[in-house]
This record gives sequence, structure tokens and C-alpha cells, in this order.
Amino acid sequence: MEANTLVVFVNGVKYTEVNPSLETTLLQYLRTELCLPGTKLACGEGGCGACTVMVSRYNPSSKQIRHYSVNACLMPLVALHGLAVTTVEGIGSTKTKLHPVQERLAKAYGSQCGFCSPGFVMSMYTLLRNYPEPSMTQIETAFQGNLCRCTGYRSILAGFRTFSKEWLCEKGENCCQNQNAADTNKKICTKTFDASEFALYDRTQDPIFPNELQIETSYHTKRIKFTGATVQWCRPTSLEQVCQLKQEYPEALFTVGATLIGKGIRTGKIQGVVVSLSHVPELLDVSSDDDNIKVGAAITLAQLYEYIETIAEIKNGETKAGLETVLDMLHQVGGHQLRNVVSIGSSIASGLGRSDVLTLLLAMGATTEIIDTTCLNKTIVCKEISQLMNDDGTCLLEKQELITSVNIPYMSQGEHLYWHKHASRADLNLASINCGMRLKLQANSHIIEDLVLCYGGMAKRSIIAANVKKEATGKAWGKEFVAVVCKLLESDIDVTLYKDGSVDYKKALVSSLFLKFYLKVNAKVMSQPDPSPDMSSVRSHPLSKASEIFEDVPPEQAAEDIVGRTMVHKAALQQTTGEAVFCDDLPMYKDEIHIALVLSHRVHANIVKIDASKAESLAGVLSFISFKDIPNQQSNIAEHVFADKEVEYEGHVIGAIIAKTETRARAAANNVVVEYDDLPSIVRLEDAIKKENFMAGHPVVLKHGDIDKAFQESDVTIEGEIAMDGQEHFYMETQICRVVPTGEEQELEIVSSTQFLSELQTRVSEILNVPQNRLTVKIKRLGGGFGGKEESPIYVAAIASIAALKYNKPVRLVLDRRTDMRVTHKRQETWTKYKVGCSKSGKILAEEVSVYTNAGYTPGFFGFVQPASLFCLASDQGYKIDNFKLSAYTCLTNTNPRAPMRGFMTPPLALLMQAIMNDIALKLNIPYTQVHEINMYKSGDHTFYNRELKDAGSLKVCWETCLNKSDYYNRRTQVDNYNRSSRWTKRGLCAIPIYRDVGIGFFRHMGQGAALVNIYKDGSVWISHGGVEMGQGLHTKLIQVASKVLQVPCERIHILETNTNCVPNALVTAASHGSDLFGMAVKDACEKLVVRLKPYKQKNLDKPWEKWVMDAYLDSTNLSAAGFYDRGPQHYQNFNNPYDGGKGHQYYVCGTTVAEVEVDCLTGANRVLRIDATLDLGRSLNPAIDIGQIDGAFVMAFGLFVSEKLEYDKNGFLVSKDTSSYHIPGSRDIPTQFNIQLLNTDSKEAVLYGSKGVGEPPIHMGIAAFMAIKDAIRASRKENGVTGNFQLDSPASSEQIFHLCKASSTYPSGI
Ligand SMILES: Cc1cc2nc3c(=O)[nH]c(=O)nc-3n(C[C@H](O)[C@H](O)[C@H](O)COP(=O)(O)OP(=O)(O)OC[C@H]3O[C@@H](n4cnc5c(N)ncnc54)[C@H](O)[C@@H]3O)c2cc1C
Ligand code: FES
Ligand code: FES
Repeated sequence: MEANTLVVFVNGVKYTEVNPSLETTLLQYLRTELCLPGTKLACGEGGCGACTVMVSRYNPSSKQIRHYSVNACLMPLVALHGLAVTTVEGIGSTKTKLHPVQERLAKAYGSQCGFCSPGFVMSMYTLLRNYPEPSMTQIETAFQGNLCRCTGYRSILAGFRTFSKEWLCEKGENCCQNQNAADTNKKICTKTFDASEFALYDRTQDPIFPNELQIETSYHTKRIKFTGATVQWCRPTSLEQVCQLKQEYPEALFTVGATLIGKGIRTGKIQGVVVSLSHVPELLDVSSDDDNIKVGAAITLAQLYEYIETIAEIKNGETKAGLETVLDMLHQVGGHQLRNVVSIGSSIASGLGRSDVLTLLLAMGATTEIIDTTCLNKTIVCKEISQLMNDDGTCLLEKQELITSVNIPYMSQGEHLYWHKHASRADLNLASINCGMRLKLQANSHIIEDLVLCYGGMAKRSIIAANVKKEATGKAWGKEFVAVVCKLLESDIDVTLYKDGSVDYKKALVSSLFLKFYLKVNAKVMSQPDPSPDMSSVRSHPLSKASEIFEDVPPEQAAEDIVGRTMVHKAALQQTTGEAVFCDDLPMYKDEIHIALVLSHRVHANIVKIDASKAESLAGVLSFISFKDIPNQQSNIAEHVFADKEVEYEGHVIGAIIAKTETRARAAANNVVVEYDDLPSIVRLEDAIKKENFMAGHPVVLKHGDIDKAFQESDVTIEGEIAMDGQEHFYMETQICRVVPTGEEQELEIVSSTQFLSELQTRVSEILNVPQNRLTVKIKRLGGGFGGKEESPIYVAAIASIAALKYNKPVRLVLDRRTDMRVTHKRQETWTKYKVGCSKSGKILAEEVSVYTNAGYTPGFFGFVQPASLFCLASDQGYKIDNFKLSAYTCLTNTNPRAPMRGFMTPPLALLMQAIMNDIALKLNIPYTQVHEINMYKSGDHTFYNRELKDAGSLKVCWETCLNKSDYYNRRTQVDNYNRSSRWTKRGLCAIPIYRDVGIGFFRHMGQGAALVNIYKDGSVWISHGGVEMGQGLHTKLIQVASKVLQVPCERIHILETNTNCVPNALVTAASHGSDLFGMAVKDACEKLVVRLKPYKQKNLDKPWEKWVMDAYLDSTNLSAAGFYDRGPQHYQNFNNPYDGGKGHQYYVCGTTVAEVEVDCLTGANRVLRIDATLDLGRSLNPAIDIGQIDGAFVMAFGLFVSEKLEYDKNGFLVSKDTSSYHIPGSRDIPTQFNIQLLNTDSKEAVLYGSKGVGEPPIHMGIAAFMAIKDAIRASRKENGVTGNFQLDSPASSEQIFHLCKASSTYPSGI
């Protein structure tokens, strides 16, 4: 008799569930049933690691406990019977004792918004449970399955590296301990945290594995069966039981990791019986003999890795090298969380066309043992893996067949194995192309005995080049044979049949990858150095290094004055312990109802009919709402909330299902039938330009000087163009809103993940026809914003509010990752045409530019942004240009609406300017640096509209400092030397200045901030201000400000949340001016309070703060003060009339970045070898937080300009709509060396204690990496005989790099 009760231990507590739900994931169980919200939901697809927890399993035979990390969002709850789960709440807490992992992540500034932090904590914690003294490499690769959008990973790695036995202060000689003496006035700091203050890692603090699971073996040996409505989950404990089940249920499916099967169960695609093989001992054995490793089919990829690692240590020669190649492959399958559950058997049986495991095992000639589960004598057949594969990618296994083991052969003498994975991100990414290659040479000769070239990603299954194999035997391995192979590969691997990705690129890579193999074999056989490093390889991945330099506060600054000092993010410990409350962590109300959106599946169409009857008839569904349910349909945002008669992009929201549970709502939404009548559409920017589908009144034009005359006087004229794609915000916390009606006078409490509370309040009030004073909007923190939570939350909140008023019940609307990506705004796409005239020395005399912006289906912001963007182009790029004509066109397409994203208008403009600088240098054959220097603003320069640039001198200071510090000129020579000697990889170096405005000049009202500061009778201080905390450390900085003014320790000051009651009409938290506006308001409020407290202080100077407060209170003094700041009318600029005397922006941030990159000309892959950045942030309020912003901005910018790809298909459907199709950089994509220096200068224009805003300016740093790639490409082209200029568009995808390098045109003949 099987057990039907699930027993699982979570954080040491035993939970039992009789016949648990088969659809429930571990994550849902933790968050909803056990009320443990520390583990986060960011994607639900195994694609980000925010939901990482540790699972521990006892093996009654070996008596050992295995601890491994998993993605709780993929793990079916039913798979956990007899196992123990540890979550972030289970290892430490601010209320009891912190775990050192939590403490170090927080104190190393590795937690900004904190949404990813519990996942990182649990990955690190699991590593420590298995390796208490991990190596640096183990730490460097521990986070393959964890993404972070805020930090840029450097600080996370820095904090966790302190656990390594190999850890030493990275700065070596430059450690701050050795630096301070030189200049007594300026103490230079080189570290943001002091590791000696960290608590030691004490293993005894780790939770103990539940005794019961060790004593009671039946948890592991007894059959279990859980029965759901449509699925039965059986977990047999012997092969015989598997066979019995198969005989009873011939259609039963097998599973181990359930990453695919689990999804099928949850979506209703899989019904019937599922047999879990995870506890079948016969399938869990690994052994080896002289020729093979025999791996049980249920062994996970992580277990296999460990086994091979131990075997590789005792082998040598080709056998060792072969095993290391397998290790490299295994290490590139997903992240640790995935490899810990996915089995070798299911990797083969699931037959994925780009499977890394399959591709390499095919090339190795691995075999499988298979039994027929219906035959009692269990006939074993041995099949080569290639025999199991159908052409359409499906597996040829019969229903009754079960893979029991896989035999992985050793490489023998003369045998060479090669593996390569090409993907847009180093980790957690399916290959766009992979290959496994095996060559066997006859003993002591170069004659080929066998050659197997296997490619994945070229067809629906991994394919072996059949003719190459046939022709190769007996041929001599050498240059001539490479040409033969390349020719044969053209017909063997016919990529034109498989239209996934770019055909030309894939076709070229087929030969390129073979060439890489050829070079590798030659390196071994001829002992030459390897000329073609594998950038994707984990084993060859260098450890990243970093340094930070900033100035300490002056010695005369009072010790208790915290402004200008490093101080850890106020909520960092709450974030790393999982205690920080995000919107979706708010407890559920008993009668809370849920919403799922119904989205358009057409790009542009009339809505003919909506039939929601089936959906509404489903149990638990309350109703379907759509445009007709909007109380104020005249509102000009009504059609953005719900499409009325017409849908204008795929993903346009048509309506919403309201149901009792989220799962019900989502299931019902799929049952709403919409009939469409298609309309003509424009989906590409170039088509919008051709058809002149511009916003009314466009182009807007800005002219200055006499451009015709200037062109005539120019020595050279250069023309060019450059395109830049959009970008996905990819905040980790998706859009979420919870609305609670009080039941009285239409009052609603709206908790929304928004950056712009007052605008949301205004718009929702308009849509509902309810006065703004009935709506309270609030939020404690966001899990990242980056501009993506300015506009989209309005529509999410509007829908939730309509439902809340309709049912008078609390409503929750959480967008799942896919819906979020399909519905929300993106960064704009641009295409720019330019013409410049300049002197022989490189001075720009005339500039003519047309910028075309894809605004999506609605002009949105671009009406008022375009004049401002021209203004920025003319004046804010750091160069003085006197004669120009600039035109901006806002183009409309049937794609997602576009809205601000970090940097908003300026990244395309800065990119354009760098492209121009680059063209000038090339045309005039002068150094790139010279072109910058001759055009750069100088101290005292004026803009074209006659603003004196008071801080412009710092542009040159940053430039010279950074060039010196980075040793730019010597490295230029080194890079050129490297390029002369390296045939297939090239390096590029580039320095660019950064000059970025801060603040919003569009409107007079966009420079105000307000705050409310209360002092309570016990002396504690409470602050409310209009800014939103989203990881940028705003609350922390403002607490520092209040502490300075009030002279009260930071610990006594608290910020609860941001809400529209305490601070009405607050501006959006964006544009890098949050600290300025709200900081000045806090300062103002605190100063008022200081004045009020002064008499009581003076009376009792020797008494503490608490005494003054109490005396003031007893004297009826108002201890609550509102503060306000207005930057003044002089900063408002009418951009349509640039000469009106406005200053445009408050001030500028200056800086310089030097980037060095390496490009693999055979694949187009690239990596950033080194970044040196010098930024002048004035007198930073908190240097550690600012450095964190620079780190994060660079990595986001690297995504923007190099690696991320926002993609639509030719019909206008969004392709990049989940974590498997859109890839933000991961922890192994960051610069190998990253040096940041803050110049703390005294600014004449900065606002708050001489500090400057930091969020957006460093986004421009990514352009340095882009231009360095261009430099490397140029070197390759030169070597391949191609001269002259060329166009590189953003992002600099590997495909573009590969084609532009022109290396492929030279082989096979040129190798
Ligand atoms: C986030 C993510 C990232 C990924 N990244 C990569 C990557 O980088 N590289 C890569 O190659 N793959 C990658 N994958 C794919 C992953 O490897 C597959 O999902 C995996 O093969 C499925 O393993 P599983 O154990 O979870 O399968 P399950 O869902 O348990 O089963 C899959 C199939 O195999 C069958 N099956 C299982 N065992 C047997 C057996 N012994 N005999 C016969 N049939 C059997 C099942 O019936 C089922 O049809 C990724 C997947 C995810 C979700
Ligand atoms: S939420 Fe589980 S991996 Fe993203
Ligand atoms: S801190 Fe990592 S996503 Fe925000």
C-alpha cells in the first residue's frame, strides 16, 4: 500500500499534507501556505534564481545527506516527500541571529533593491554547506543560476569571496591600510567594507537536518502515490515497482527533475500518471571500468559532475582532457539549481534540439541501456544515442521503454574531444549554437581514424556531419583537409531548413567552430599556444577583480556627521534575511480576489467580438471586465487601460478575469475568445520612416549658427548612420498592485510597485471618477524600477481599482513575467543619420542630425521629450559645437509603448556622438583621444543658449585622471601589439568622456520635493518624503541628511514607506535627482525642527537630545515639520524656445571611462577585460552606495549596448518575452577587472551638500565597451585586408561582430 501523505520539513518544522495538490510548486507552498515570503517569485521559469532554496536529502544506503539548491518555482511540492527544505528565513534573522552569508551580502553593499538577495543568499549558503571553505573559483561560479539587475554583481562577489580560504584583500599593495598617510588632508579610501568586522562562519549555527528523516527509512523506501483531479504522482522505490506501474498504466510518463513534466502538469497539458524515478536505487548508481563511465539514468547532472571530477583527477592524457571537456559542458547547462535536479536520462529523453548534453554525448559515441518495462524479464538493449533521435527532435523511445543508464566512453590515446557553446550570456542560457567534436588519429600519425562533428541549434535535433565522418577516415589531418571539411559541412549541416536565428550567421559558424577545433588540436599535437580561447568555457573563465577609490570626509568633519561617509543600505539586512516586505509579500486578506489579464494576440486589428462566457462559467470566476467597465471612458488613458474597439500591439490589454484565486483567474483568461479583423500594421522602425508614420507636428527641429557656411569652411565632411535597439527594463519584481476598499465613500488604499505615486493617484482617480482625496497610494520599496515603474503601474492599478470598486473586496494583480514583458513599456529604439563638417585637426564645425525614434503604438512621452532631447544633443554631450541643425521624428509602430528607462533620452545621443568622434578620428587619421580633447567643453565655456558651464573644468580633470590611472597610452601600444600577434582574437581599447545632465527641465513644476519629519516624545524621528526606494539607497542617504541636521544617530531615524497622504503631489523618483529634491526637503524640515528645539537645547546643553524633545513637547512645541524644496524657475527650460534664459538642467555629472575588450573573430563572442571609470559626483553623500550605482549602471549599459536583444518577429510579435528569450548580463559577464574612482570635487552647481545625482550618468559608460569592440573589429578587418569605415549598431551582437570582423572571408584558405 502506498503512502498518500506528503511529509516535508521546512526550516526544521514538519509539515504533512494528505494528497497534496499536484499543481502546487514549492514556491507557492512556501509563500502562500506557510506564509514564508522571503523566497521570491520573479519569473516562475527557472530563469533567475530569486526563488532559490536548499533541499537536503538523506540516503539511507550511504547514510549521507546531500544538500543542493533548487528553483522553488519549478519544483513540484509532491516531489519533496521525505526531504528537508531550508529557506532564507531558516538560516538567520535580524530578530535572532544573522547568518554570516546574510550579513556579508548586506555589509558588502551586495543588496540594492534586495529582490534577488534571498536567492543569492541561498545559493551561497548551499555552497558553504557543501564546501565550508570554498575556493575563489567555486564562489565565482556559484551564481550561474542567479540574476541581479541592480548591483552589477561585483559587490555580491566581493562580499561572498570573504568566505574563501584563498581570500586576500584584492587591492594588495593598494589596500587602504597602506594608503592613508601621503596627504593628511585627503584620506583616500579603497574599500567600502571592512571584512575584519564580519562575524565568523560558524557551522554549528546551521540548521540541523531533521533526525526523523534519518531514523525513519520508510520516507525513502516506501512507495508513494498522490492523486490529484487529473494527475497521479507515483514515486516507486525499485525498478520492479516502476515496471509494475508501467504495466498498470502504459501511458504513464517518467520524470526526475520535473522541470518539463512539472510545467506540463501545472498548465494542464499533462494528465494521467507520472512516475518519479528519483528514488529508484537501480537508476542512481554510477560506476566506471577501463573504457566507460556507466551513469544511472536518474543521476542528476550535478552528481555526474562531482563523479567525473574525482575520476578526472586520477586520469591523465587524452582521457583526462576528455573528461575535463565533459565537465566544461556540464558546467554550462543552466545554473546549479537546474543541474541539481535535471537527470542525465531526461536530458536525453527530452530530446531538446540545442541540448548541451545530447550534442556532446552524441559526438562521444555514448550509448544508453534501455529496458522494456512491460516485459518482466526486462530486456536490455544498448542503443547509441543517435538511434534515439527523430529528425523532428522528438525522442524515438517507445512508451514502454525506460533509459536505465548511459555509458560515457573515455577518450583514448590519439583521441581529441572538443566542446563549444555559443550563447548571448555566459550562463543560464540555452545555446544558440553548440558543438561536440571528436577526432581520433591513428597511433603516432596525423592520419584520421574517426572524425565526428556534431552540431546543436542547427536543426530540431543535434546533428552529426555524416559526409565528413564518411570522408575523413584515412585522410591526413592538416590545412588541406580543413578546406575539404568546410565544403562538406555546407551540405551536411543545412541550416536553411531550420529557421531559428540568422541563417547566414549559423552557416558561417559551422565552419568557424570546426576551425576552432582544428586550432585546438594543432595546439596539442604541435604544442603551439592555443590561439583561440574559449570565452564560454567555465574552466578558462578568469576570476574578476575590482578596485574602488574615493576620498574620505575631511579630518575636521565631526565624527557623528555621517554625510559623505559610507553607510550600509538601511534595509540591507532585512533584504538579505527575506524580512523586507515587497508588495506581493503583504499578507492575503481572507476574501481577497485576483485578476489575470486577457491580451491581444494580434498586432493591429479591430475587435469584432469578445466571448467570455466559457471563462465566466468556470468555478471560482467572478466576471470578465473590459473597456465598458471603465467608469470614465472619456479619460484619455482609458484606451491604454483596456483596448476599446481596436488593438494596437500584440499584448494590448483587452480585458481581465476576476476570480477567487490567481490560478483560476489565469486559467479562465485563456478561455476568453476574441475575434479580430486584422488591420494593416507597421512593425519596424524603417517602415514607419518610409511611410512617414510620424507623430503629428514632427519633426521638431533645433538650429543654431550658420550651418551652410560652417560646412563650406570645413576641411572634411563625414556622413553616417547608427541604429540602437530598445531594451527591456527587466526589474526583478514584476508589476504588482493590491487595492483595498475601505467600504466608505469610495476610499481605496492602493499599494503599487510604482515610482510615481502621485501620477498614479491622479490617473486612477480620473479613470474611476473618484476624487484624488479618496485614494491613498503607498509603497514601501520596489524590487527594481529603472524607469519601468513610472507609466505601466498606472494601468495595472487602474484595472485592480475598477475590480475593487466593483466587488468592494481587496484585489491583487500580479503580472507574471511573460505578461509583464508582453504588456509593459520598453526603452525606445532609434535610428540616426548624421553629417558633420570639421577642421583638419578634428574640431567639429557643423553638425546635421536626424533622429528617428520608435515610440511604439502611442507617442506617450515623446511629444515633450523630443525638443528636450535635441537640446541635450546640442549642449549636453560634453562637446562644444556652434553650428547645427538637429531634427527629431517620433515614429509610430504597432509595438509596445516606449517610456523612460535609465538614461532615457541621452544614451542614443551619447552613442551617436561617440560614433561621430570615432568617424572623425578615422577619416583624419588622428588619435581618437585628440578628437575628444579638441571638442570637449572647457572651464568657463558657454552652451549654445549661453549657459555658463561652471563645472565643465571637471570634464578635463576626469579625462586626464582616468587616462593616467588606466595607463591608457601604454595600453594602447600593448593592445596594438597584441593584435599584431593574435590571428583570431583581437583586442580593442577606447576612452570616452561622460557628460550628463541631472534633473528634469521640461516643466516648471519638475524641480520640487516635499517631506514631513516628525519627532516623537521618545526622541525617535520619523521621515516621510516623496521619493520611492527602489534599491538606489535613497532612504539611506536621506536618513544621513536628517542625522546630520538634527544631530541624531541614524539608528533613531526611520522611514516607513512612501505614501500620498503624508507627502502629496510628489514628483516621480527618476532622472537621478531624487536625493537632491527630497533630500533638500528633508533638510528643510529638519532645519525647522532644529530652530524649534534650539531654546530647549540651549537651556540644557549638557543633556541629551531626548530631554530637549520632551521639554519642547511639554512646552507645546510642534515637533512635526513639513519641508519643501523648489529648484527655482531658472532651471525650467522651454525647450521649444532655447534662448529664453532657462538653464535647462540643474547641473552636470562629468566622468571618463576607459574600456578594453577582447573579441573572438571566429564567433563574434566578446568579453570586457577591463573598465576604468572616473566620475565626479561632487561630494558624494555615501560613496559606497554611489559606487554600487556605477557598478549596476555599467552592467545594465553593457546589456543595452552589447548583449541584450529586444526582439520582434517580422509580424510584430514580441520574441523576447521571457527569461529564456531575453538575457540580462549574468555574474560571469561582468568586466574581468573593474576599477572605479570617485573624484570628490567642490561643485559650483551641485545641490545637497555638494553632492551630485548618480543613477543615470554612468549608463553612458557602456558606450566605452561598445566603442572598444568597434576598435577590435577594426583591427580584425585591417588584418583581413578591409579598410575604411564601417557601421556598428547597438547592441553590438556577436552576429554583427562576427560579420564585421571579416575573418571568415579568409578561411579555410587563410588559416
Ligand atoms: C531554466 C532552464 C535552463 C535550461 N538550460 C539548459 C542549458 O543550458 N542546456 C541544456 O542543454 N538544457 C537546458 N535546459 C533544459 C533542461 O536540461 C531540460 O529541461 C531537462 O533535460 C529536463 O530534465 P528533467 O529531469 O527536469 O526532465 P523531466 O521533466 O523530469 O522529464 C523530461 C522528459 O524525459 C522523460 N524521461 C525522464 N527520464 C527518463 C528515462 N530514464 N527514460 C525515459 N524517459 C525519461 C520524461 O518522461 C519526460 O518526457 C534548461 C531548462 C530550464 C528550465
Ligand atoms: S522565480 Fe524561480 S527562477 Fe525565477
Ligand atoms: S539587488 Fe539584485 S535585483 Fe535588485
